[in-house]
Amino acid sequence: MTAPLIDPFQRAVNYLRVSVTDRCDFRCVYCMAENMTFLPKKELLTLEELDRMCSTFIRLGVEKLRITGGEPLVRRDIMTFFRAMKRHLDSGDLRELTLTTNGSQLERFAGELYDCGVRRVNISLDTIDEAKFAEITRWGRLPQVMRGIDAAQEAGLRIKINAVALKGFNEDELFTLAEWCHDRDMDITWIEVMPMGDLGNEDRLDQYWPLSDLRNQLATRYTLTDLAERTGGPARYVRLEETGQKIGFITPLTHNFCESCNRVRLTCTGQLFMCLGQEDMADLRAPLRDSSEGEGKLEEAIRAAIRLKPKGHDFDYSRQKVDGQMSRHMSHTGG
Ligand code: GTP
Ligand code: 5AD
Ligand code: SF4
Repeated sequence: MTAPLIDPFQRAVNYLRVSVTDRCDFRCVYCMAENMTFLPKKELLTLEELDRMCSTFIRLGVEKLRITGGEPLVRRDIMTFFRAMKRHLDSGDLRELTLTTNGSQLERFAGELYDCGVRRVNISLDTIDEAKFAEITRWGRLPQVMRGIDAAQEAGLRIKINAVALKGFNEDELFTLAEWCHDRDMDITWIEVMPMGDLGNEDRLDQYWPLSDLRNQLATRYTLTDLAERTGGPARYVRLEETGQKIGFITPLTHNFCESCNRVRLTCTGQLFMCLGQEDMADLRAPLRDSSEGEGKLEEAIRAAIRLKPKGHDFDYSRQKVDGQMSRHMSHTGG
C-alpha cells in the first residue's frame, strides 16, 4: 500500500489544483496586467505529461483534482485531458474532478464536461452589470458568460459563483448577487482580494474590502447563522435564516485557514507550489521527463516537495501597506 502524502504539520495532502494554461481570454484588473507576457506554448507540460503527473498524484492519495488556469477551457484539446481523467473517477481512485473557470467557454463545453464526470464548476463572476463586467475583465462580455451558466445548468452541473470583493466596485451588488444566485439555485462565495502579481501602479489597499464589513452589511437585512461545516476548502459559511441561502467567505487576510490546508498547486510548466502565498516550490518537470522506467523519480520528488510545505501564507494588509506581496500572478498557480 502506498503511504499517503503528509506534510511536516501532519496535514494530509489529498487535493491537487492544476493550472493547465497561464492564458486567459479576459484580463481581470486584479489578476492580470493589460499586456501580459504569456509563456511560450512549448514550455507547457503536454496533455500526456499532465495525465502522467496527475495519475501519479492520484496514486499517492490525491482524491480531488481541480483544473484551473488562466482560463482552463482556452487550452487547445483540453477535453482530451478531462476524458483521460475520467478513468480515475470510474475506478473510484478520484472522488472529484472539477474546474474553476470564467465561464466564457462553457456554452461549448458544459455537456462534454458532464460526460467526463465533472459535476460541479466554480465560475468567477464579480458583477452582473454588463458595463461593470466589461470594465473589470477589460473586455469580457457578460451575455457570453450568462449563456455559459445556462448551458452548465442544463447539462446538470452544480455551480458555485466566486466573487472577488472589491471596494468601490461591487460593494453595491452584495444583495443583488446573493438574490440572483439564490433564484438560480447557485452557491456564492466572496473572496478577499490577495496581493498577487505585479499589475502596474494600482494600490491594493484601495481595492481591499474586508469580508467582515460585508458580513456586517448582510446582517442589516438578514439574520445570520455561522455554520460550523467546512467543505474541504478554505471557505466559511453563514446561513441567511430568512431565505435559507448559504454564503461563503474566503478570508485569507482576516481569518487564516492555513491550519487545515489540504492542497498543493501544480503550474502549467510542472512546478509544484506548496502554498498560494509562498514562493517555495519544487520542479517536477525534470523528474517527470526522467521517469522512463516507471514514475519512481517523480514520486520521490513529490514526497520531497511535500516535506517543504510551509505552515501558512504571509499576506498582510494590516500595516497600512501591503506585506506579503507576491510577484507571481494568480494565473500562474491557478488561484
Ligand atoms: P472548493 O472548496 O472545492 O469549492 O473550491 P475552492 O473554493 O478551494 O476553489 P476555488 O477555485 O473556487 O477557489 C476560490 C479562490 O479561493 C481561489 O481562487 C483563491 O483565490 C482562494 N483560495 C483557494 N484555496 C486557497 C488557499 O489554500 N489559500 C489561499 N490564500 N487562498 C485560497
Ligand atoms: N485575489 C483574490 N482572488 C483572485 N482571483 C484572481 N486574482 C485574485 C486576487 N488577486 C480569483 C478569481 C477566480 C479565482 C481563480 O481566483 O476571481 O475566482
Ligand atoms: Fe482570467 Fe480568471 Fe484572471 Fe479573470 S481572474 S483574468 S478570468 S484567470
